[in-house]
Amino acid sequence: MLPLSLVVLGCSIPCLAAITQGSFSVLSYNVAGLPEPLSSSSPSTNTPLISPRLGPFDVVQVQEDFNYHAALYASDNHPFRTSTSGPALFGSGLNTLSNFPFIELQRVKWKDCFINEADCLTPKGFTFMRIKVADGAWVDFYNLHADAGSQTGDINARKSNLAQLAAFAQTWSVNMPIVIYGDTNARYTRDNEALHSLLDGLNVQDVWIQVIRNGVEPLPGSPANACPSTFPSGTPQSQMIACETVDKIFIRSSAAVTLTSNTITNENDAFLDSAGGPLSDHFPLSSVIHWQLSSAIRLADPVGGANDDPFTDVSLAAPGSVPRITSITLRGGNRLDSVSVAVQYTNGTTATATHGGQGGSPSTLALQSNEFITQAQICSGSHLSSTSVFFLQVTTNQGHTLSAGKSTSDCQTVVVPIDAGEAGKAWGLVGFWGRSGSEVERLGAIWGAS
Ligand SMILES: *[C@@H]1O[C@H](CO)[C@@H](O)[C@H](O)[C@H]1NC(C)=O
Repeated sequence: MLPLSLVVLGCSIPCLAAITQGSFSVLSYNVAGLPEPLSSSSPSTNTPLISPRLGPFDVVQVQEDFNYHAALYASDNHPFRTSTSGPALFGSGLNTLSNFPFIELQRVKWKDCFINEADCLTPKGFTFMRIKVADGAWVDFYNLHADAGSQTGDINARKSNLAQLAAFAQTWSVNMPIVIYGDTNARYTRDNEALHSLLDGLNVQDVWIQVIRNGVEPLPGSPANACPSTFPSGTPQSQMIACETVDKIFIRSSAAVTLTSNTITNENDAFLDSAGGPLSDHFPLSSVIHWQLSSAIRLADPVGGANDDPFTDVSLAAPGSVPRITSITLRGGNRLDSVSVAVQYTNGTTATATHGGQGGSPSTLALQSNEFITQAQICSGSHLSSTSVFFLQVTTNQGHTLSAGKSTSDCQTVVVPIDAGEAGKAWGLVGFWGRSGSEVERLGAIWGAS
């Protein structure tokens, strides 16, 4: 049976999106789970105390989740969680516990480490995943644990680490909203250059800098404004959040999803033992992030698998200048080989975007001036022991269709958003996002109001 709200809105198949804004909470926490006595905390005692306290946060990202991983998950009920990459010596210590589903999980090891602080003994790095916070609200999440220590070798390794993450996100998160949080081991006073490879390289904002420091970064070279290792009971939040932790939260909006935050909280008081002592040697840092969908560009859920290179046509459709598709060309045989759209802007300029290879046979549908693609059916199947896209059929508001490939038993149909969108404009397909190589491996519609 369909959810009542969808029936009322006349939407009998997956569609976007009666709800166009909301918020989610994040928690960044280095849980000090190195095996005792290497850990600077007491994880065998503390991890079972941490576990049940993670529940209030929508997306928790932990670092140093090494040898007490089972205890960390034991009293937690987040429905979507990463599997451990192993104990110290084998794993990165990075895990994510989420209320929302994710795709595209990748664990990436740092290219550089410095031997001080035992950084090179275990494969530290970062994780990337794409989380569906709500219909249309796909957000790229990064968790990281950069090289520790204050020697020159450490500072240089951190520079390399954060530059490596920035370079990765410049490829994988093109035109996507981003949330990065974790243990950067960096301070503005000491690691300004490293932090700026994220800030400038990805155009992200540090929530602490924006919310607590009114946009003003601590001066490079000035004394560290570090937090004490513990706060006396009763210390006000304003004091706990005024000092700089190496744990940081960064956000970036995209054309399709605006992210904002006006809160960042040191969750110290929620993670104390019965004697008032902290459960880790890092503070837990949280933020509530507000999301808002664009009324001009909207991403539908993608179908398919995680092979080959990422692509997105979001750049075709900047808000305020969303073009109209004038024709669409598909190539297919046994599977879907390529998708190609030709678009025209209101000023007459045209552009095309093509993804996939030259296999299969092409077919083209030319659209009339008042014609929009309002529905797409995408089917996936198993190919060479992974999932790829086998079939696409698009349908216009005038009932014309174009298809390519072979249908399977695993199909999803998506339709244009059901909210009004930009005043005086109509929703229609403007392009696609997903992954492709010599064929189309993952495919999602991008709707635009033009
Ligand atoms: C037409 O509009 C598009 C989208 O805003 C822009 O990229 C392009 O430069 C414009 N072309 C001209 C000739 O103004």
